[in-house]
Amino acid sequence: MNKEVVLSGIRPTGFLHLGNYFGAMRNYVRMQDNFNCYFFVANWHSLTTHPDTKELQNSVHRVIAENIACGLNPDKVALYVQSDVPEIAELYLYLSMLAYKGELEKTTTFKDKARLQPDNINAGLLTYPVLMASDILVHRAVKVPVGKDQEQHLEMARNFAERFNYRYGPVFPTPQAFNFGNELIKIMSLDGNGKMSKSENQMATLYLADDNDIIRKKIMKAKTDSGPTTSNSIKPDYIENLFTLMKLVSNEDVYTKFNEDFNNCIIRYGDMKKQLAEDMVAFISPIREKAADIQSNKELLTTIIHQGKEKARYSASATLTEVRKSIGMNY
Ligand code: TYM
Repeated sequence: MNKEVVLSGIRPTGFLHLGNYFGAMRNYVRMQDNFNCYFFVANWHSLTTHPDTKELQNSVHRVIAENIACGLNPDKVALYVQSDVPEIAELYLYLSMLAYKGELEKTTTFKDKARLQPDNINAGLLTYPVLMASDILVHRAVKVPVGKDQEQHLEMARNFAERFNYRYGPVFPTPQAFNFGNELIKIMSLDGNGKMSKSENQMATLYLADDNDIIRKKIMKAKTDSGPTTSNSIKPDYIENLFTLMKLVSNEDVYTKFNEDFNNCIIRYGDMKKQLAEDMVAFISPIREKAADIQSNKELLTTIIHQGKEKARYSASATLTEVRKSIGMNY
């Protein structure tokens, strides 16, 4: 039986963090045995916001190394770099003709990024969702494991796929965002301000490369308050986030104990954070050490990237043959 096709990507714009892990990479690892998986480093996308490429090669290697350290097996999946697959750029060109200026300008990420970099509102930033749709559709993927922040991009990818099919004939399936469990995940920043991200407040972001002391320090500084005063009250979102992290990295009985303490208004956040810090150290340190080993082995990285490129181009070129045929560009 043919396995369903899965695709996802990560921009190499900084160090990977817990949001990337729980929103995306954990799902990649869980999917690798039962799906036909394509995972890649979105280095073209990174140029929309990070035109300086001094750190780019290092970051690409780190993303590959961290994915493997988290459990991804490059023999089971195609693990590749976006710029190694020129078919994506060709598909991006065709899909650009089906994407409208108005809808691109309305995209939340475009508006946010345009606000952050008013001197560099480039065309690549505007057409970011078209390139992302091309990444997905070039392998005719149906499941896309991503965090909640990518939902709108997925909806746009579906629109572009449907528009293409309507105009030129049925080539693409309609891809869906995916997470094990029903909900897409959003890990908040430890300071309670928005989502954890590669480039915002670094002291409020837990990176997979953080050393043990930094992990402890960041968690001890996480935002809390004086605690609930009525039993079973609703948790403020920054407290909920600490419980979410605890659920993800601590034993169930530890989580249950602190949750009961919260509900009974006897919670001591200092104790909770100490426990969470130790569990987080136990979670992150093996990933950090394995990733550092892989990253220092350039020969291994080159082999893995080359192998990924071959697998990705095999699938992408088959799709582009279909695409050109449907458009009538086969002479
Ligand atoms: P990027 O590089 O920002 O993030 C990579 C993945 O991590 C998830 N993520 C989070 N999940 C939960 N909580 C958070 N705080 C958090 N921060 C990040 C993201 O949802 C994502 O799954 N546009 C994409 C890269 C991309 C892509 C694609 C993804 C390019 N082409 C095709 C899927 C399919 C991005 O910027 O991800």
